Amino acid sequence: MKLPFPELSADEAAAMIQNGQTIGFSGFTPAGAAKAVPKAIAAKAEAEHKEGRPFKVGVVTGASTGDSCDGALARANAVLWRTPYQSNKFLREQINSGQTKFFDMHLSQLPQYVRYGFLGHFNWAVVEACKVTADGEITLSTSVGASPTFCRVADKIIIELNEHHPEALHGCHDIFEQAEIPYRREIPIYTVKDRPGSPVVKVDPSKIVGIVRTNQADECSPFTEFGEMIGKIGENVAEFIAGECKIGRIPKEFLPIQSGVGNIANALLGALGTHPDIPAFTMYSEVLQDSVVELIKSGKITFASGTSLTLSNGPMSELYANLDFFREHFVLRPQAISNNPEVIRRLGCITINTAIEADISGNINSTHIMGKNLMNGIGGSSDFTRSAFISIFACPSTAKDGKISAIVPLCSHIDHTEHSVQIIVTEQGVADLRGKDPHERSRIVIENCAHPDYRDDLMRFCNETKSGHTPGTLKDAFIFHRQFLETGSMRNIQWS
Ligand code: COA
Repeated sequence: MKLPFPELSADEAAAMIQNGQTIGFSGFTPAGAAKAVPKAIAAKAEAEHKEGRPFKVGVVTGASTGDSCDGALARANAVLWRTPYQSNKFLREQINSGQTKFFDMHLSQLPQYVRYGFLGHFNWAVVEACKVTADGEITLSTSVGASPTFCRVADKIIIELNEHHPEALHGCHDIFEQAEIPYRREIPIYTVKDRPGSPVVKVDPSKIVGIVRTNQADECSPFTEFGEMIGKIGENVAEFIAGECKIGRIPKEFLPIQSGVGNIANALLGALGTHPDIPAFTMYSEVLQDSVVELIKSGKITFASGTSLTLSNGPMSELYANLDFFREHFVLRPQAISNNPEVIRRLGCITINTAIEADISGNINSTHIMGKNLMNGIGGSSDFTRSAFISIFACPSTAKDGKISAIVPLCSHIDHTEHSVQIIVTEQGVADLRGKDPHERSRIVIENCAHPDYRDDLMRFCNETKSGHTPGTLKDAFIFHRQFLETGSMRNIQWS
């Protein structure tokens, strides 16, 4: 159907964007991320830089994006500032070398920050869609993220109409935006399936300055085969949850699961799906990864609510080929709703996220390596952890061929405090921190979760002094990290 909006090439769209402007791009992970326009903006930036002119833009998205957005813009040195999350190698390098300003945010809060002007003026929204109507009804593609908010606040909207995504995705989204503060009521979601919103984002059509037609799959990479270690972590998480059901701490109806991002999270969810004592379950989560498709097919997941369908090509083709079946089993919501603490607390979610490191008190670092360099960002992990019914963090007990202990005296950066973290799981076992004081916690974490190579040194740290409410001393709180930075290994701590 002929639409009343100008048809633009990606280059023509990029030509309208000026140095210093702020753009809200669609995308929550590579799912539903704008692809053609950011690539063209990167090319424009390179051309401008060649002419000796400055060209950088503020880049805000739902979460991470694909290489055509974060990768291309970072390689062109075109990102002035960036929030709320990223996972791109090139952008990470720019951030850690100080060339791009990045601030890490809770994903549930981003839309509100944008809506109320905390992040300044938004010149553009560039959003991927599978369908748009003349009166401004946009059916998004594989993610919702913060796109409704970007469309609401930006001066102008460019739509990437991506034919790769079928128009039949219409009906798979539930766009609910809260009323203005202070007139806000509760979010009317009482079960994971509830749909209080609309299937489309409604915008003033006069704001749509052009349509860029594309035909490109999301840039989601397949997961690597996981080994014995990750299998064991999955088994430990599944056994723990099955045990809680048996004791009756988890009601017989079971509770919605939230599962984090990355290889480990994908594998852990798979392990829950195959455990014989865990009943078929629902998800109230953020990112729906590959294992969700398999588990919906097998009937182990009965319904999944998220904000993105982050699927590699195989599972995505399968979902599209059987959309009539799958549409009954999932919904995509704005991140302000999928990650909303009010709903997470009400539904009683069991949350499972991945840590970079955990300390003996139960604090978790999800974002920084050796207290300095950003890995990805906090994402939605705290939105879920802080409001969970049961909050779980899982990770291997060591990293980098065993030279790093993931269990340390004190995390080198803290994203989730001991007050929010209930359970820590490694391939070694499970530390249940509920109702334990700091001295008890430290012993349980060391005995149950630390790798045997590191247990004696961790115990020695705890035994340095018995005084005070927490174990150990400030003097040696970072002795593991300091030794790694000096020698390349945390093994056999050289106590002075
Ligand atoms: N010290 C140094 N490096 C470490 C480390 C440690 N203690 N623990 C892990 N790493 C490194 C790994 O070696 C790997 O490095 P590589 O890319 O060079 O191979 C990298 O961190 C990623 O670890 P990996 O084991 O592949 O885990 P993952 O893909 O499951 O990702 C997180 C783990 C923590 C980075 C990822 O889950 C994340 O970004 N989490 C924060 C956001 C979040 O939780 N979102 C979910 C909300 S719904």
